[in-house]
Amino acid sequence: MKVRPSVAAMQPYVPGELRPGAVKLASNENPFGPSPLAVETLRRDASSVHLYPDQHAHRLREKLARIYSVDPDQILVGNGSDELMAMLAGTYLQHGGTTVTAANTFSTYEFATLLYGGHIRTVPLLDGRFDLEATLGAVDDATDIVFICNPNNPTGTYVTHGELESFLSRVPDRVLVVVDEAYAEFATAADFPRSVELLHQFGHLVVLRTFSKIYGLAGLRVGYALGPAGVIRDVGRVKLPFNVSLLAQAAAASALDDNEFLARAVRNNNEGREYLESEMKRLGLRCYPSQANFICMDTGLDASALFRRIMELGVTIRPLTSFGLPASIRVTIGTPEQNRLFVKCLETALAEQRSGG
Ligand SMILES: Cc1ncc(COP(=O)(O)O)c(C=O)c1O
Repeated sequence: MKVRPSVAAMQPYVPGELRPGAVKLASNENPFGPSPLAVETLRRDASSVHLYPDQHAHRLREKLARIYSVDPDQILVGNGSDELMAMLAGTYLQHGGTTVTAANTFSTYEFATLLYGGHIRTVPLLDGRFDLEATLGAVDDATDIVFICNPNNPTGTYVTHGELESFLSRVPDRVLVVVDEAYAEFATAADFPRSVELLHQFGHLVVLRTFSKIYGLAGLRVGYALGPAGVIRDVGRVKLPFNVSLLAQAAAASALDDNEFLARAVRNNNEGREYLESEMKRLGLRCYPSQANFICMDTGLDASALFRRIMELGVTIRPLTSFGLPASIRVTIGTPEQNRLFVKCLETALAEQRSGG
């Protein structure tokens, strides 16, 4: 048997590393756990799992459609937004086609591209932000898809509504622009893109969202794409019939009603972000201004060694070596207590490493 060469060359995804007993601030999950309304629904619906799920996730799509004031035909639900990235590449990437994205961003864009035999072209970040002008310059006749991560994982930076709108107006219509907004619910900047509004203006835009982050449902695997009905119909052609489980659909629909849980998560995130940013300043570490539920800091040291030591001290974070930033680490904003513990561990590890220990 012969493995396709593009598959043989693929590198496995590097997940956040775990250590039993350590506080996990490595994968940008919700520190308060899952939405309680979602958990209630999971308990209630557990006795129905002998049934196949609704293959078109009607109830969830209708609920999302009402929230975003779009037609249900403009929404596709995936087994996490990861699956939707692969489906988008499977639908639009031509044989040997190219996707364009940033050099330091979420790795699944590259995975999806290589999976379908495409080439990835990366553009350096500018001050930790997606550089949309340079991205536009990298788009050529071979480009089928552009992936923009907003806010960007791992830097937490964002492109503004005006910047995104101007970019979309200049990218040729035959190129699909995918804006991955996995962390958008945490963004508080007044000029953060109102990307669903842009769907009315642009026929080559798809927005990805997920239930994995603010709703605390990463283990259930539910994400969704919002886009023009024609695009959603075409991507739906590559969907496996029962891609999102019955429990995942039901829990996600319930989580959408959990406004109290969401408000608490946002409040905690804002306070934690402010606390961590000021502590990083005190420790002399440069960090990018974040609009997400994590903070990326440049330590000027070997991030992998720092990560190991912080993990020994009781907190797992993310060294950004696999993101192409070998001196940077990323920490998820946790509860106040978790944040304080992280700062304590970081301070100890930094002192040791700086003194060559
Ligand atoms: C930018 C970004 N997009 C998407 C995802 C994955 O989302 P999902 O769990 O919905 O597949 C992540 C997860 O870390 C992410 O950081």
